[in-house]
Amino acid sequence: MASLQHNVGILAMEVYFPTTCVQQDALETFDGVSKGKYTIGLGQDCMTFCTDLEDVISMSLTVVTSLLEKYAIDPKQIGRLEVGSETVIDKSKSIKTWLMCIFEKFGNTEIEGVDSTNACYGGTAALFNCINWVESNSWDGRYGLVVATDSAVYAEGPARPTGGAAAIAMLIGPNAPLAIEKNYRGTHMAHAYDFYKPNLASEYPVVDGKLSQNCYLMALDSCYKRFCNRFEKGEGKEFSLLDADYVAFHSPYNKLVQKSFARLLFNDFSRHASSVEKDAQKKLEPYAGLSEEESYNSRDLEKVSQQVAKPLYDTKVQTSTLLPKQVGNMYTASLYAALASIVHNKHSTLEGQRVLMFSYGSGLASTIFSLKIREGQHPFTISNIAEVMDLQSKLESRNEFSPEDFVSNLKLMETLYGAKGFVSSAKHSLLRPGTFYLTEVDEKYRRFYSQKLVSTDGNCGNTELANGTNHSEL
Ligand code: ACO
Repeated sequence: MASLQHNVGILAMEVYFPTTCVQQDALETFDGVSKGKYTIGLGQDCMTFCTDLEDVISMSLTVVTSLLEKYAIDPKQIGRLEVGSETVIDKSKSIKTWLMCIFEKFGNTEIEGVDSTNACYGGTAALFNCINWVESNSWDGRYGLVVATDSAVYAEGPARPTGGAAAIAMLIGPNAPLAIEKNYRGTHMAHAYDFYKPNLASEYPVVDGKLSQNCYLMALDSCYKRFCNRFEKGEGKEFSLLDADYVAFHSPYNKLVQKSFARLLFNDFSRHASSVEKDAQKKLEPYAGLSEEESYNSRDLEKVSQQVAKPLYDTKVQTSTLLPKQVGNMYTASLYAALASIVHNKHSTLEGQRVLMFSYGSGLASTIFSLKIREGQHPFTISNIAEVMDLQSKLESRNEFSPEDFVSNLKLMETLYGAKGFVSSAKHSLLRPGTFYLTEVDEKYRRFYSQKLVSTDGNCGNTELANGTNHSEL
């Protein structure tokens, strides 16, 4: 059915990640693993994390407030707000209801949407919900708002260096500079126990690392085939990686992204060998007869396909890896951090280009979809999005923690997860002005937040955000 609205997509973006981080090379030494295991083996540079001052609610409050302010959006103009997250703070009360604090004081309580949860896929589910709403007869002409927010932490062991933390907010509407190509989508959903969080007393997941890698790659293959078929039916011509200017992946760690892109190239070779360069064809030929199962387990194929895909990886993928390598796995926000990195790095040359997006959430849910970059209209232009996100200064203004301090922070967080009756530490100096932070969890498990503000004389102050009855309103 034809949509009433055109070029529905992302009008504006804002990115928030904590200022607290640990370097992966320092972590290698501290963990006593071989040099290069995290930096080359996993391909990660640095990892941000939340201290006891921050959580998925505070990060969402920060990123939404910042987006509304920087784009001068009237909070009454938001008609739908969807949150994607897999970080469970409350089994009933959604993060979305917390964000209503921002809108209630402007008299706007008429905002549809709640939270979507399925591992790292929730952000994409939230995005699709908003896009569908704007394209539907139910749309009331206001903006949609999507928030993807997570704190990724792992128990001691090989998965620990694949953590991270961030929140990303995206304003949704018609005539967007990052427009979803709605006819071309490939989805693969199945049941798997690759990564899950059955222990409700712990923030840490149960992970079968090897299985999660296999599930991710199998889901990628399936989504890509379906996406290509849709495209080919619609356009009447073959689809290959040559039709995508950039490819953004859900990025648990960079090595998996390198392998995934190589896998897509092998898919192209298997579907239409002529879409792959002659030299690459020759090198991939010996693997043409492998069954799907064999192809996942062939180390030789993995090596050769990564090698032949390298030149295309450098032009189509490298640019998306800035935040995922620097911040770590942001779960639901990870794919959108890859998109933000493309916008940051290439904003002046993106018009007319296509970005292929692969979203994966363990358990499992996955989709490939595509975005077409358009000029947009101020303030909703690609260059303005890049300016507002200001990623370089956010990355440069972080505070490096030693691995010892990182681990003792995790130990503290273990004791606070699901706890009541405590106040957070008072180390506000590490927060940037405008950041929301947790002040207290009372005896009834109610959470209280404040915002670090900059007063007109340039000094920082604090403003409390109401929760319950005994705190004043923002
Ligand atoms: N120098 C260079 N490379 C090295 C070194 C070194 N000193 N040491 C090891 N490596 C390489 C290995 O050869 C391996 O490379 P390969 O993938 O090309 O084979 C890589 O580093 C990883 O090392 P492994 O020993 O194979 O794996 P490890 O036990 O460290 O676990 C894993 C890695 C499984 C990714 C783990 O970190 C994990 O479980 N993470 C969480 C699960 C995850 O992120 N899954 C992805 C999808 S699901 C999701 O998004 C949550």
